[in-house]
Amino acid sequence: MSVLRVAHFSDTHVLSLRGARPGQFLNKRWSGAVNLALARSRHYRVEIFEQLLDAVAEAEPDHTVCTGDLVNLALEPEFQRVHRLLEEVFPPQTLTLVPGNHDYYAKDAVANGLFERYFQAWQPRDVTVPGAQQYPVCRVLDGLYVVGLSTAIPTPVFMATGRVGEAQLDAMEQAFRRKEAKDRFRLLILHHPLLPEPARPMDNMRRLTDAEALIARLWKAGERGPQLVVHGHNHEFKRMQLPGTPVPIVQVASASRSGKKRRAEFNIYVIRDGALAGIERHIHEPESGRFVRCDEAGSPL
Ligand SMILES: [Fe+2]
Repeated sequence: MSVLRVAHFSDTHVLSLRGARPGQFLNKRWSGAVNLALARSRHYRVEIFEQLLDAVAEAEPDHTVCTGDLVNLALEPEFQRVHRLLEEVFPPQTLTLVPGNHDYYAKDAVANGLFERYFQAWQPRDVTVPGAQQYPVCRVLDGLYVVGLSTAIPTPVFMATGRVGEAQLDAMEQAFRRKEAKDRFRLLILHHPLLPEPARPMDNMRRLTDAEALIARLWKAGERGPQLVVHGHNHEFKRMQLPGTPVPIVQVASASRSGKKRRAEFNIYVIRDGALAGIERHIHEPESGRFVRCDEAGSPL
């Protein structure tokens, strides 16, 4: 019996204003963004992210995936800081990551390719897909096939939408048709949720604008498509299902969240004989700084 354990974390929102030029904050867009980021940074703590990285390393997963929003304002010192933290824990083969909307927050960060420049070691292209540009990334391991979409686009302040785009959807379709995908567990990773949450405040300002097109492609891929889809963005654990299929969709909580009600978490997906056999939630315990292994309901195991 073969068992694979894949760790998943997301939404660390590391803020660093060190070395930022004052001119970057003079216009209205940036002063609003900085105020928001400072308020957010009280709840998202880099010390907790460091403890999470230790806990992931201790859990010794077969592979780890990260679904973006690593930084806060997409400033270069933020990318440098996160790069240093990741580098200590993850040799290139052990982590696959994709960007979130905060990683593309500033147009100049996107134009300069900061996310890809700092994190390229963890953005593999293990198979060549005709027509693919930077994304999707594609990782081929023993028993595991990871396809990573970018849903990150620069958006105005207060907007957090994402988009995959037709070209990337075409490339994703090709990636799942590759022979390497056939006898491996197929995992799709992205930042934004596929399914809307109408009850959530301002959901239409945070959604994946072409989610329906993505779902249609996954239906089309059918049995050759992903066997598990994981994402972040909404900072809350949630297990869903791709409509009309048995394919699980899992949203992970934030990896750096402090506070009583919502805590930092990472997931471990236990894959047995080619199917998702269970999900462990590892939830931060502020008193000890450790992450407690819990079931899907959040009760310690
Ligand atoms: Fe996000």
